[in-house]
Amino acid sequence: ISVRAGSYTDELIKTAKAIASPGRGILAMDESNATCGKRLASIGLENNEVNRQAYRQLLCTTPGLGQYISGAILFEETLYQSTTDGKRFVDCLEEEDIVPGIKVDKGLVPLPGSNNESWCQGLDGLAQRSAEYYKQGARFAKWRTVISIPNGPSELAIQEAAWGLARYAGISQDNGLVPIVEPEVLLDGDHGIDRTLEVAEKVWNEVFYFLAKNNVIYEGILLKPSMVTPGAECKDKKPSEVIAEYTLRLLKRRVPPSVPGIMFLSGGQSEVEATLNLNAMNQNPNPWHVSFSYARALQNSVLKTWQGRPENVQEAKLALLARAKANSLAQLGKYSA
Ligand code: 13P
Repeated sequence: ISVRAGSYTDELIKTAKAIASPGRGILAMDESNATCGKRLASIGLENNEVNRQAYRQLLCTTPGLGQYISGAILFEETLYQSTTDGKRFVDCLEEEDIVPGIKVDKGLVPLPGSNNESWCQGLDGLAQRSAEYYKQGARFAKWRTVISIPNGPSELAIQEAAWGLARYAGISQDNGLVPIVEPEVLLDGDHGIDRTLEVAEKVWNEVFYFLAKNNVIYEGILLKPSMVTPGAECKDKKPSEVIAEYTLRLLKRRVPPSVPGIMFLSGGQSEVEATLNLNAMNQNPNPWHVSFSYARALQNSVLKTWQGRPENVQEAKLALLARAKANSLAQLGKYSA
């Protein structure tokens, strides 16, 4: 297909297709220890390994989850962690036919010469880490970089974001991991929806330009875009139908049909909003699998229900299944509130 016809090509394409299967999407549970700490603090729990393990155990051992969830993105700690009974989380997921994935970026740092924007670290040693993650059972990867509309975005920040994503994607594919390409256009700001579309078009233009330059196999990647919405502080809110129309316009203009799956992030939308927007996008056929890779929009109710109490675990699992099922229906365009 390209000069990257490496030994993993067929497997990458198969993995990407399995994740982008009808009625299923991704559970993003790869919060870094710092972010996981914020989630635990919201229910009054201390941020320690025992509590993180208890929470991730709740998620990974929900029976029936695989009907709605095709992949789960893990933080490094979770990839090597087991249940309190000693069963590897990776094995719990595989039993449900859920592909384990791994967050491989090393987070954001200030980008010199920009408008107070950031760049994403993690390329050093990435090939070796990826090979080890593969051995541990991971079959896809995630690299999240961000673009801020209120801060510019500057040409420099966009180019750096796109180049980093493309370099990461190539390294992932060489090591058997399907890269999720995630330039998150942050929701923050009071700009209208047209401005979001303009920025998103520019970002995806650069991303695909550099993906091609790095000989990334499009059939073996997944995208994780932000939906095209008005800024969070914009007064002019838009209904799901309009958000769907703008977001699909972006995809049609920028994303080749060879890309198997578009797995949207929720980015701070409410659980119901994220489901309704996804459902609206799936009202008509499109060339891709348009689905979800939500963290907050799948986990908010789970955390609230759990409260860190063992006696609430069963009910919290049901809350997870309820959100997963709603988004599964939305992937099929069959959700009604
Ligand atoms: P949200 O769905 O909470 O935006 O998180 C998705 C994610 O993994 C961001 O990288």
